[in-house]
Amino acid sequence: MKVRHIQIHFEEYAEGEQLPPADLSLINEARQAVNTSYAPYSEFRVGAAVLLENGLVVKGSNQENASYPLGLCAERVALFHASSVYPELKVVAIAITAKAQHFITTTPITPCGACRQVMAETENRQGTPIRIIMRGQQGVAQIVNGIGNLLPLSFKEEKLKKKREKTKT
Ligand code: THU
Repeated sequence: MKVRHIQIHFEEYAEGEQLPPADLSLINEARQAVNTSYAPYSEFRVGAAVLLENGLVVKGSNQENASYPLGLCAERVALFHASSVYPELKVVAIAITAKAQHFITTTPITPCGACRQVMAETENRQGTPIRIIMRGQQGVAQIVNGIGNLLPLSFKEEKLKKKREKTKT
């Protein structure tokens, strides 16, 4: 038995520290997306902005339902929208932020497991990593380059491929 280690890497920008302009601009788009959130049940409004390789930005926000499990996170709304309208364009980056009704979000809004799995599928499909930019209303921003940093050992399409059994000679 071996104990093996996986390292993850993320950039962290302190409150007030200058973010790369492209990241800041995508976070601002995600902030705008918060305004379209439909979150009467959790009162936690999330916005996501997806940057495509041609510079287009596709926004999404969480959409809840009285039948709670049917709601969808902002990240998946944005990614599925992008992929259904622009299937041929790669996703370069996604920014995520949130506003709550009764408190200020002060830690980065990190995507849920289901959204991480969808990001992994997007990366796998396009063959390039996605920059994931996470920030609350205040506080530090955290950025990863590639979903492997948020979802190591993920389930990928290649695992569905049956290996051909070697023929005995
Ligand atoms: N939510 C997102 O939209 N994205 C996340 O990364 C975490 C959670 C939504 C789902 C639900 O509508 C609300 O936030 C509270 O969980």
